[in-house]
Amino acid sequence: MNFELKPMGLVGASTEKCDALIVLVPQDFKGGKDDLSVLVAQAIKSADLETKTGKLLPLYRPVQANAARVVLAGVGSGSARDVRAAVIAAVASVKTASLKKLMVCFAAPAREEAVRAVVTAVAEATYVYTHTKSKPEGRTLSKVLVGASNATEVQATFDRAVGIVAGSELAKEWANRPANHATPTLLGKAAQELAKLPKISCEVLGPKEVAKLGMGSFMAVAQGSDQPLRFIVLHYNGAAKLQAPTVLVGKGITFDCGGISIKPAPEMDEMKFDMSGAASVLGTFRALAALKPAINVVGLIAACENLINGQAAKPGDVVTSMSGQTIEILNTDAEGRLVLCDALTYAERFKPTAVVDIATLTGACVIALGGVRSGLFSTQDALADALFAAGDAAQDLCWRMPLDDEYAEGLKTTFADIANVGGRAGGSITAAKFLQRFAEKFPWAHLDIAGTAWKSGAAKGATGRPVGLLVEYLLGQARNT
Ligand code: BES
Ligand code: MN
Ligand code: ZN
Repeated sequence: MNFELKPMGLVGASTEKCDALIVLVPQDFKGGKDDLSVLVAQAIKSADLETKTGKLLPLYRPVQANAARVVLAGVGSGSARDVRAAVIAAVASVKTASLKKLMVCFAAPAREEAVRAVVTAVAEATYVYTHTKSKPEGRTLSKVLVGASNATEVQATFDRAVGIVAGSELAKEWANRPANHATPTLLGKAAQELAKLPKISCEVLGPKEVAKLGMGSFMAVAQGSDQPLRFIVLHYNGAAKLQAPTVLVGKGITFDCGGISIKPAPEMDEMKFDMSGAASVLGTFRALAALKPAINVVGLIAACENLINGQAAKPGDVVTSMSGQTIEILNTDAEGRLVLCDALTYAERFKPTAVVDIATLTGACVIALGGVRSGLFSTQDALADALFAAGDAAQDLCWRMPLDDEYAEGLKTTFADIANVGGRAGGSITAAKFLQRFAEKFPWAHLDIAGTAWKSGAAKGATGRPVGLLVEYLLGQARNT
């Protein structure tokens, strides 16, 4: 899908030949004298069009436009949320097999957040998963024109949104693929594919190399599956070699049955999404390749299955992590922290300015924050604030959670340096406290995306989050250096 920003208001939009035209009309609309503006003004005056967000007035081949279908869509205040809701509704109303070229036009100068919302909402409303369908009926839309009278002002925001869409669609795609079509090996191949893009390189380690590194905790999870693990190291080099990188660490459990501490059957299929953190790292690199900021970024993905064969780790087993700390595996279903801790230790070698891990880590986080905001944990206020602000800007929200040391009490055990679970209370926080023990050597943040990475129910599917937040944060780093 190709996006293009055009410097035009309703006059230009009315002559543009396309399959469908969506006109975004704010509550304070002041029309010009051209035919399309007059039509919009009349529709408002006669109360046939409400400018409240989400209200639509569909038209067919009006003489005032050069499109078969035209939808006037109220966008209320014109905020990102309003525009997003309006565009999703409007696109749904014009989406047919013949929709190839779409124009979305602002009837008033466009705010940056609204431009971003148009691009991401059009992408979201038209994404189709096809990878494992025998007769794929994919996205028909191939060209999206966005019209704004102040196009030059919002061009940079527009380009950024287009880059983020490319990244979050890649993340969605990999997260959506079933576990037998997205094995650790296939994730490794996807990363190697990314290395064909400018400024990106990639290295994929297998069981032998990981054993040599001493990643005993990661290996303990992987040993329960016949699929070999992969440890993926991606580099994006946009700045001088000497400039310290930001490191992203993704949880890449391609399927999580819980291991011996097995999960209940209902909805277990959704544990194919347990590599969404890894997918968001892949997606972020895709966006970096498109946007080319002057920074260095390292992406680490610990990928394996959490299954149950004869070698599977047992509750009570004690393993030695790469850091040297011993871990008692009291619950084999708390496997995310076991793979992440070794990846965090590996991150030390890059002397990073910051390390952000992204993981579908705890069901407790879904209970705490639902599907609206990701959990954000950090001991560093500046890093937490930057990530929070990036989430706001990208409309990919998160919420900061506490890390008081008292929350780590439950992780104490007689049989190792630390246990991998600490009771049900505050489960997302105890998980973060576990990770913190492996992240003492650099500024660190943890995003628990268990509630936000995918949607359940009828619209089951990956969301591509938090690629928007991560890309926005990284671009902010580029501005600061
Ligand atoms: N991948 C799950 C977390 C999860 C569960 C994400 C449900 C989204 C929806 C993780 O590996 C896990 O199983 N966590 C356990 C931890 C517990 C054993 C301390 C959990 O949340 O139940
Ligand atoms: Mn688990
Ligand atoms: Zn898991």
